[in-house]
Amino acid sequence: MAINFDVIAARRSVRRYVPRTIDAEAVARLRALTAEANAGAGLALQLVTDEPDAFGKSFLAHYGHFKNVRNYIAVVAPDTDEGGIAAGYQGERIVLEAKVLGLDSCWVGLTFKRGKVPVDIAPGMKLYALIAVGYGAESPKPHKSKRPADVSEGYGEGNEAFDRGVDCALMAPTALNRQNFRFVLCRDGAVTATAKRRAYAALDLGIAVFHYEFASGLKVSRLSIS
Ligand SMILES: Cc1cc2nc3c(=O)[nH]c(=O)nc-3n(C[C@H](O)[C@H](O)[C@H](O)COP(=O)(O)O)c2cc1C
Repeated sequence: MAINFDVIAARRSVRRYVPRTIDAEAVARLRALTAEANAGAGLALQLVTDEPDAFGKSFLAHYGHFKNVRNYIAVVAPDTDEGGIAAGYQGERIVLEAKVLGLDSCWVGLTFKRGKVPVDIAPGMKLYALIAVGYGAESPKPHKSKRPADVSEGYGEGNEAFDRGVDCALMAPTALNRQNFRFVLCRDGAVTATAKRRAYAALDLGIAVFHYEFASGLKVSRLSIS
């Protein structure tokens, strides 16, 4: 099965997992997806399995209510706006592919121990976040959402593909559920996507753009953080 609208609508940030090893086939698929993302977009995403310490018994892990996280993708990418946007875009593709495999996930920017993550970070690269993955032990409610008019210009004016894209972007995960992104449909039909410069802006924008492009079938022509 491929990513589809039902998968996108069913995704939630899951912070509590059952203590079960991820099936070997699913691990192999996640590795392949990670390698594909890295090769195509110049990223250094790394799948880490059976590693309990990044979400160990720290204040932060407790604060974030994480439980039984032993598998995650370390989101390592160039320390530039473009690198962060690409990391968000490719990471969210993996989040949704994981959901297709029956795996839950959660983007985690803050509530983990950076020093415990056993990955290589080359000069010029940055560890932006982790994506926890596993079999969920909870069923969170959908997040509260802004309205299309709060995050776009040109919605509801006859371009149905644009409207579908904005609706789907509003289903995307964002840091602190801020939904810090804006899609603008220009007169010539081009679409721009922007975010305000703040923590996790690049990841959030890349994630939202993946949702937008998937549902609309249209490409965003200009992306910026300001
Ligand atoms: C870039 C990014 C960073 C995040 N960091 C954290 C975090 O540090 N701790 C946490 O518990 N959730 C974190 N989240 C999850 C968001 O809180 C969650 O996506 C948002 O509340 C919307 O809920 P939903 O994903 O279930 O739709 C993060 C999400 C994103 C996209």
